[in-house]
Amino acid sequence: MVQINKNAAQIKATLVSNKRVGQYYQLIINIGNIANLCKPGNFVAISVGGEASPMVLRRAFAISRVSVSTAFGGTMELIVAPYGQGSMWLCAQAEGATLDVVVPLGTAFGIPTEPVQVLLVGGGYGSAPLFGLAETLNARGCRVDMLLGASTAGKIYAPMEGKRAVNSLRIYTEDGSMGQMGWVTDPIASLIADLNIAVIYSCGPMAMLSAINAITSGRDVVHQCAVEESMACGIGICMTCVLPVADETGAVSMLRSCIDGPVMDGAFVQWDKVGQAL
Ligand SMILES: Cc1cc2nc3c(=O)[nH]c(=O)nc-3n(C[C@H](O)[C@H](O)[C@H](O)COP(=O)(O)OP(=O)(O)OC[C@H]3O[C@@H](n4cnc5c(N)ncnc54)[C@H](O)[C@@H]3O)c2cc1C
Ligand code: FES
Repeated sequence: MVQINKNAAQIKATLVSNKRVGQYYQLIINIGNIANLCKPGNFVAISVGGEASPMVLRRAFAISRVSVSTAFGGTMELIVAPYGQGSMWLCAQAEGATLDVVVPLGTAFGIPTEPVQVLLVGGGYGSAPLFGLAETLNARGCRVDMLLGASTAGKIYAPMEGKRAVNSLRIYTEDGSMGQMGWVTDPIASLIADLNIAVIYSCGPMAMLSAINAITSGRDVVHQCAVEESMACGIGICMTCVLPVADETGAVSMLRSCIDGPVMDGAFVQWDKVGQAL
């Protein structure tokens, strides 16, 4: 029986820094020693709106990266898009604010035991956790190439320091305002062949993950993707976040993306049935 991340804890955490970066906000939050237990792919669930808020559901955010050697103790970085009420409340919090956070949650990206060629594909703020992952893969001796895509330049998140961990970075925007005009998925098939890619790691909108899987299907490439299904509890209780996933025998069942994911083997997700009842 799959259970909540064994390292998860509910803590009061101080917002150390809050900066606007393009169309996103970069939040640095002090989580103390828990930073040592966070892995690329894990996410957090944050209470929004304050104590008297009618917003009872926590909001999920991917951990972009952690730092364990700062003057503030262990910190984690989140990249938040101000979208609806909850995320806008979070982005409006001042430095020094106390946040109610459950961290770390969910599964992590698997790291190859041997150095192999990997491709990281991020859509919108989905690129955020990929830079921390790139550092881990780099330390393992992997060659790391990265593709980032978004509708427009302001939605590309590509921090200067993150770029150091990758061998190459190509950017695609639908309106051509940054990098090449087109879909981030456009070059994947040829890159798999040219770079002899063994693993693709992806994070972004479900449509992008599904499109990547259509490319990897039938090729000798592992596709590890961080799915983003709507979550209510974030801790495995409410079944809001389920999606159809096959097992080794082909039997399909609804798995909770908050505890069986968010990182899943894309080859087993039944992309054409996501959002439908079994
Ligand atoms: C694993 C994961 C990682 C994420 N990472 C990021 C990230 O790094 N950066 C980022 O900006 N956003 C991220 N999101 C999206 C984020 O959780 C919010 O959904 C988003 O910020 C919008 O929330 P809101 O309060 O602004 O919008 P609102 O529209 O006010 O609220 C959306 C929230 O309502 C709830 N909800 C929506 N539909 C349903 C439903 N059918 N049943 C029950 N509850 C529902 C969910 O809690 C959802 O988060 C992530 C989501 C997931 C699941
Ligand atoms: S969000 Fe409640 S079970 Fe996954």
